[in-house]
Amino acid sequence: MSLSNVKGLRGEVTIPGDKSISHRAVMFGSIANGTTEVTNFLQGADCLSTIDCFRRLGIEIEIIPDTNAAVKNESLKEASSKQTTESRKPAEKILIHGKGLHGLKAPSSILNAGNSGTTTRLISGILAAQPFETTLTGDASIQKRPMKRIMEPLSMMGADIKSLNGNGCAPLEIKGRPLKGIDYFSKVASAQVKSAILLAGLYAEGETRVTEPVISRNHSEIMLRYFGADVHTEGKTAIIKPAADLYAQSINVPGDISSAAYFIAAGLIVPNSEILIKNVGVNPTRDGIIKTAIAMGGDITLLNQNFDGEPTADILVRSSSLHGITIEGDIIPTLIDELPVINIMAAAASGTTVIKDAAELKVKESDRIAVMVENLSKMGADIMGTDDGMIIKGGKSLHGAIIDSYEDHRIAMSFAVASLIADGETTINGRDCVNISYPSFYEDLDRLCSF
Ligand code: S3P
Repeated sequence: MSLSNVKGLRGEVTIPGDKSISHRAVMFGSIANGTTEVTNFLQGADCLSTIDCFRRLGIEIEIIPDTNAAVKNESLKEASSKQTTESRKPAEKILIHGKGLHGLKAPSSILNAGNSGTTTRLISGILAAQPFETTLTGDASIQKRPMKRIMEPLSMMGADIKSLNGNGCAPLEIKGRPLKGIDYFSKVASAQVKSAILLAGLYAEGETRVTEPVISRNHSEIMLRYFGADVHTEGKTAIIKPAADLYAQSINVPGDISSAAYFIAAGLIVPNSEILIKNVGVNPTRDGIIKTAIAMGGDITLLNQNFDGEPTADILVRSSSLHGITIEGDIIPTLIDELPVINIMAAAASGTTVIKDAAELKVKESDRIAVMVENLSKMGADIMGTDDGMIIKGGKSLHGAIIDSYEDHRIAMSFAVASLIADGETTINGRDCVNISYPSFYEDLDRLCSF
């Protein structure tokens, strides 16, 4: 599609499955007894990396093609270019033939998590308890992301885990050991850290407790309980007891609110738009984008609210005049991945938007403070980076530019949205990185623009 000014967005979009939930379904299914069936699994590159890791750990995972669907688009094929032909076709379902908590086998090669922080950190919690040694690595971005945050608590539990380059990043060498439960206070609100510790806690002697400064997404707690684990929360503390067994389940993954966010933003900022975004996960630990968009003056209605393990809804979005707000504190973990596209909304809004308490943006797939400031400035916006966020003075008219995605999927999709209100053409270098979380993103956006 051409990335330029459009007259409006109209129609319905059903976005792909939630990335966080898809990862967890594969991981928990692998260490459960029996066959876990997953529908609406996200076939993005990150989740395919998780499948690849667990296959190398001896788990049989079948990707059953959807015989009714034609190959959806070329992007989906590319997303899985590293994978086998079967995983390139849209799946009807994924079958994970779990071997139980103690059924993983030592891999014959290094595990590669690709670009995926969730794969790297969560699998480390499982590997820390296995009676074998593993080396775990990922792409250039993963090899720069901080892993001390999981190495420290897992070591306290008894694991032998080291950063092979001595810089606190992957590649990691993990020698599994018998673990003991800990009572851990995490400095960061991170579901990846919390989940790594809870997964290690499944194997530990005694109870494991993780307290966070602010509650992060709780998909692990919900799904582990569903698989039969004894896990509960007390305020900001998640508590797990060692498990004798987990049991296979059927999981229907809701649409990813982080992917829906691009359509929420586009529908609000492009005049003459009305979009229905169907079957989106609206877990309160993830719904900060909706609350923020409404606080900025967005016309958003939730329809067909439902609950099947996780809450879901259809989201109706109409063009709105947005105004700037301050976004800080407890809401930040609930919209951390949406802050790049919230920057675009802020640039289109009147007044000033201040984002604070979001230093975590610097250690995502790219340094999202620096990268947003660089690219939005190129388009003519008034944006300034701070130590823990950014300040955007909205209302400046945007113009097309050459954007560097830094191979960060959320940056590429955010600037595709910005291009819709910019004068002239926008080019996004590395635009195919959307395959990480949303292979058919450009096709879905294009369809809404050409009503
Ligand atoms: C994720 C948690 C978040 C989020 C990431 C996915 C998860 O990271 O940014 O995209 O699936 O647990 P942190 O937990 O490190 O903040």
